[in-house]
Formats: sequence, C-alpha cells, structure tokens
Amino acid sequence: MSEKDKKLKIGIVGCGAIGSSLAKAIVSGFSKEGELVSLYDIDIEKAYNLSIKFNKKLAALNLEDLINKADLVIEATKADAAFDIVKKVLSLSKDIMIMSVGGIIQHYQELKVLTEEKKARIFIPSGAICGIDGLKAASLGKINKVILTTRKPPRAFLGAPYVLKKKIRLDNIDKDTVLFEGNASQAIKAFPQNINVAATLSMAGIGPEATIVRIVASPTISRNIHEIEIESDAGKIITRTENVVHPDNPKTSYLAVLSAQATLKQILEPIKIGT
Ligand SMILES: NC(=O)c1ccc[n+]([C@@H]2O[C@H](COP(=O)([O-])OP(=O)(O)OC[C@H]3O[C@@H](n4cnc5c(N)ncnc54)[C@H](O)[C@@H]3O)[C@@H](O)[C@H]2O)c1
Repeated sequence: MSEKDKKLKIGIVGCGAIGSSLAKAIVSGFSKEGELVSLYDIDIEKAYNLSIKFNKKLAALNLEDLINKADLVIEATKADAAFDIVKKVLSLSKDIMIMSVGGIIQHYQELKVLTEEKKARIFIPSGAICGIDGLKAASLGKINKVILTTRKPPRAFLGAPYVLKKKIRLDNIDKDTVLFEGNASQAIKAFPQNINVAATLSMAGIGPEATIVRIVASPTISRNIHEIEIESDAGKIITRTENVVHPDNPKTSYLAVLSAQATLKQILEPIKIGT
C-alpha cells in the first residue's frame, strides 16, 4: 500500500454527545479515507460502551496509549481538560481537532509555538456559528469591529460563574435581558460552558480582547441564537444562526457536531471548499 493510499488513523478523547456522534460518522461515513483506531474517556465505561457498538476493542488504556495509535486526535471533553490534552497530543507531533475551544484560548500563543516546533496541526471547527469563512478572509485586510450576540433561554445560563456572582435570578426573567456585555476574554471566564463560539470567533478574527460579546437571556426562544456583525475594509458581514439542540445532549448544538464532521471531511478529502 502506498503512502497515498494509507487511511488516516483517528482517535477520540471524550465519548459524550460529540465524541460518540463523530465516532459513528467516521465509521459509517469516512471509512474509505479514515479509520477509528482508539477511544478514550476519563469514565472508562463510556469508551468501552461506545467501542462495543462497533464490535471492536477500541478503548484505550490511557491518553498516551490513544495518542500513540492515532495520526489525528479529536478532543471532545470539557473546557478545563482541553489544554493539557492538546499539549500532550502536539508534544508527540500528532494533529488535533479541538471542540472545547473556550479552554485553550488563553494558551493560544503557547500552542501555536508548539505546533511550529513539533510540526503538528490544530483544527478548530466553526461550531455553532456561521461567518467564520468571511471573517478569515476579511482579517487578511483590516477589520474594524466584531460583535457576537448570543441569545439563549434563561435556564441555559444556570450555574454560570457570572450569574452566581451577580446573584441573577434567572427564573424572574420575563423579557429579553442583556446579562453581560464585554470582550470575549471576559465572556469566556464569566460563561465558560456557553461560549466556545466566542473563542472560535476571536481566534479567526481580531482576538479575545477586541471581540465584543453580548449575552442575552430570552424567555421567548427555544433555540440558541448567535448573531455576528463584522465591519471590515472588505465590507459588512451579518450572520444569524438559530441552533437546534443535539438529540443526545441539550447543552450542545446539532450544528456544532455537523461542523466537526465537515472539518473532518475537509481534512480527509482532496477538494476543499470555503476559506
Ligand atoms: N466548538 C463548539 O462549537 C462546541 C459546541 C458544543 C460543545 N462544544 C464543547 O465540546 C466539548 C464536548 O461536548 P459534549 O456535548 O460531547 O459533552 P459531553 O458532556 O456529552 O461529553 C464530554 C465527555 O468527556 C469526558 N471527559 C471529561 N473530562 C475528560 C478528560 N480529562 N479526559 C477524557 N475524557 C474526559 C466526559 O466523561 C464525557 O464523556 C465540551 O467542552 C463542549 O463545551 C464545543
């Protein structure tokens, strides 16, 4: 078998809603170009149970075991675990696709240096927002403003550090209420579970200090809505994405999972469409 015919060996860390969906997609949709070789979860049973769905012994003993088997690792765990996982993968000169983007944004420069040293690559899907393609192109010129407005039902913000600190009574909200307005860096700390999109938008555009984030609790909506407004020398871009929730996890948008699949498709297929 020539180098060109070799399948990309893929390992998944985190076998929750996103990891499981991606595992199924690799086995059913990308089996010509890619092979699922390993699964790891801090909850060993989750990796084992997912593995038996494919009639294979894919559960890894530990993270290092998975990294050694894979060419590409997909991280789908949680924000505070992501940085350590990404660092280990890159240190072993393997490529990684990152889903818990909010967890790595503060370490972006350090990881960038590591990719250069180790000749490894990081892939970050657009996730639950639209407009990253235009933003990436526009950022090669001059960008004047990037604003993200995220609207979610009030209960989606339960337990967020900002809500707890400000003692906001989410059950009392009966009309659209701006909970937070600040830069992406502050938003990620204030709403760490809600704000992967702000991290991705910042990295594609003008960075977390300059990207403005507005978070709105809206009692009248059932879908999470992300609106993006970009002003640049190349023109004005406005996008609005109304997300349907993932059937296996109401905290995750279905589009985020499909976006990860689309990124995988870009990696595996010879024709790449979009910026
Ligand atoms: N980029 C985006 O647009 C986007 C959108 C939605 C979700 N996400 C993020 O993707 C990640 C996964 O989301 P999900 O819905 O699949 O979550 P989930 O809770 O369904 O699954 C996460 C899994 O990771 C495992 N895990 C936790 N810590 C781990 C560790 N240190 N090592 C190995 N496994 C570990 C958990 O046991 C769990 O099985 C989350 O961080 C979420 O915020 C990103």
